[in-house]
Amino acid sequence: MDKKALEALLHDMSTEEKVMQLVQIPGSEYEADAEITGVERGRADEKVKRLAGSTLGIWGAQRLKNIQERYMKEHPHHIPLMFMLDVIHGHKTVLPCPLGQGAAFDPEGAEKGAAMQAYEAAEDGVHVTFSPMSDLCRDARWGRIMESTGEDKYLNSLMASAMVEGYQGGDLKDPRHMAACVKHFAAYGACEGGRDYNNTELSEHTLREHYLRAYGEAVKKKPAMVMTSFNTVNGIPATGNTFLMKKILREEFGFQGVLISDWGAVGEMVNHGYAEDKKDAALKAMNAGVDIDMCSGCYSTYLEELVKSGAVSEKMLDEAVYRVLSMKNDLGLFEDPFRGIDAEKGATVTGESRQLARETVAKSLVLLENRNGALPLRKEKNAFIGPYANTKKLQSSWAFSGDDENTVTVFEGASEVYEPDDIRFSNGCTMLDQDTVTARGKYHTDNWQEENDRLLREAVKTAEWADTVILCLGEDSTQSGEAASKTCLKLPAVQLRLLHEIKKTGKRIVTLIFTGRPLELKEVGDLSDALLICWLPGTEGGHGIMDVLTGKVSPSGRLPVSFPYTVGQEPLHYDIYSTGRPRPESGPTEFTSRYLDCENGALYPFGYGLSYTSFEYGKPELSAEKMTYEENITASVKVRNTGKVPGDATVQMYIRDLSGSRIRPVRELAGFKRISLNPGEEEEVSFVIKEEMLRFWTADGKWESEPGKFHVWLCDSSIDGEALEFRLEKS
Ligand code: NOJ
Repeated sequence: MDKKALEALLHDMSTEEKVMQLVQIPGSEYEADAEITGVERGRADEKVKRLAGSTLGIWGAQRLKNIQERYMKEHPHHIPLMFMLDVIHGHKTVLPCPLGQGAAFDPEGAEKGAAMQAYEAAEDGVHVTFSPMSDLCRDARWGRIMESTGEDKYLNSLMASAMVEGYQGGDLKDPRHMAACVKHFAAYGACEGGRDYNNTELSEHTLREHYLRAYGEAVKKKPAMVMTSFNTVNGIPATGNTFLMKKILREEFGFQGVLISDWGAVGEMVNHGYAEDKKDAALKAMNAGVDIDMCSGCYSTYLEELVKSGAVSEKMLDEAVYRVLSMKNDLGLFEDPFRGIDAEKGATVTGESRQLARETVAKSLVLLENRNGALPLRKEKNAFIGPYANTKKLQSSWAFSGDDENTVTVFEGASEVYEPDDIRFSNGCTMLDQDTVTARGKYHTDNWQEENDRLLREAVKTAEWADTVILCLGEDSTQSGEAASKTCLKLPAVQLRLLHEIKKTGKRIVTLIFTGRPLELKEVGDLSDALLICWLPGTEGGHGIMDVLTGKVSPSGRLPVSFPYTVGQEPLHYDIYSTGRPRPESGPTEFTSRYLDCENGALYPFGYGLSYTSFEYGKPELSAEKMTYEENITASVKVRNTGKVPGDATVQMYIRDLSGSRIRPVRELAGFKRISLNPGEEEEVSFVIKEEMLRFWTADGKWESEPGKFHVWLCDSSIDGEALEFRLEKS
């Protein structure tokens, strides 16, 4: 439809019809088994159902085709309904959870993964995904850290941008793609105490320099939609925050797409004490520029009245509705409301999608310990023990459209590479301690104790038979994600008991950790010969993990987030500001900024990860010691594979601005490159340093760089390497 026709359509619509384009209702209004991803409050009446512009939580080619047909027939202007879904790390083929994808340090791979997800979801009739989540996460207590790509703004920016491009492709009309929604704007990851939905307090420079960066970069890729967050930012709910939505998102970032609230967030402004009642909430959300109200009922109940009374202008309403109609138009829905779906076929897992998922899993695994050559596994007797050893539940709670039956378990993967006589499996224990509270309720089973005693006895026998035990432990998928904040980052006690008992058998222990968040792993690392972080790996988990365990692929993942010694260090991140009394690396530490009972830094820091081979970094070099606003310099280093097997190195560049009108972090990631090297092979890796990379939110409230001294590191993780010095000068 051309612009004129779209405007004519808008002009012809009644106020009620217009308002309803801004209303989103849950898919459960259309289908009983829809996925409910928020708190359900009452049912929509028939009118709302007939006119609401979009819905969420349902998929399936035939199903959505039927709904669309019925809906359009009844709609006065036959405007198509828009179907949205949380396709977060896979639709049918499930990739590693976003935190795992962050560990791959592979934006190109993330783009391919997003394109694959778009293809599958679009085949199932979905038009829009609520992804990527670009929230900066520095707090492992927050369960939604699993949905992020980690603690670093630069990595998150690249990953979110790549995902937007992968989902959307070059043209939204292309029926193999879907619209992306960057969320949750803004600073949801900074919720106080890591408690979900909690408020955030952030200075403007922290907000701008750290928390807003990834959203801003992702918005440059023109996502069709942005979602507001549940939290307040400095006392004002994001959903009613004109500074965030108008000044930053629309004016500064230049976002022209549709702004949707999170589920119920418009109405929740009443709970926040920011709106007097739901009508006031609708007014405040409209004033802040929220186009679609997701499931709070505030717009459907009060917006028409607000427009009629003049509290919300017709112009404001028209602008919002026009954005929604344009999005439908961009998706090609007016020409083909079914976007070419084959209703009989629908989405399936294919050999190709499995291959991509398998490679992504292998790239995402992070090897934290490998003593006594424990890995790769040898051709001997290997026992796979633990609640994650043979479970198909390898995906997060946000991958609900993927089917468990397609998942390859670790033991199934092992069975494909080893003779049946050489491997055994034992559950070892239940996944959870009795009465654990999860995001999906309290876990309780009858005779939990007897069952665990029996499982333990069996597991010890299996371990005694083996040469190596591959212990598959971790958090249940219901312990991370939305509404899954925790104050304890240890493995369940029943799993730790299993580890201690297996240790007593004296067998070699390779521990695999399945998790959506950083955990406290000191004890586990000390008791294990090898420690491998597997995240929530998805459909091809068993294959990708076995590729690494057998040495077919050398591990190459890097931590996208710091793993603490103890939960007491949270929030924890590497890009901190120095205090006036930094804790020295050696010598007396009294009266310095430190904990009495713990290191300041992470047990396993950001950027860290081992390989089966070794890499030697040569002396890094700078093309010049001075750069100007016009002239760049180049930092380079030679990296050699000094081990016996091929492997991928992730060369990281960090920069520090040594002094500024406002203090600057001790290190910030400014570039990285993944390179593949054969044994003995060497490659020179170079990074161009440009003035724009040195900008920050100055004391004058400007996004600028300041002349002066800088340090740069080319290294293997956020804590190693030697600094080189250069100066930025005005030319
Ligand atoms: C609530 C979540 O915060 C958000 O991430 C999700 O996209 C929506 N519900 C829709 O399910």
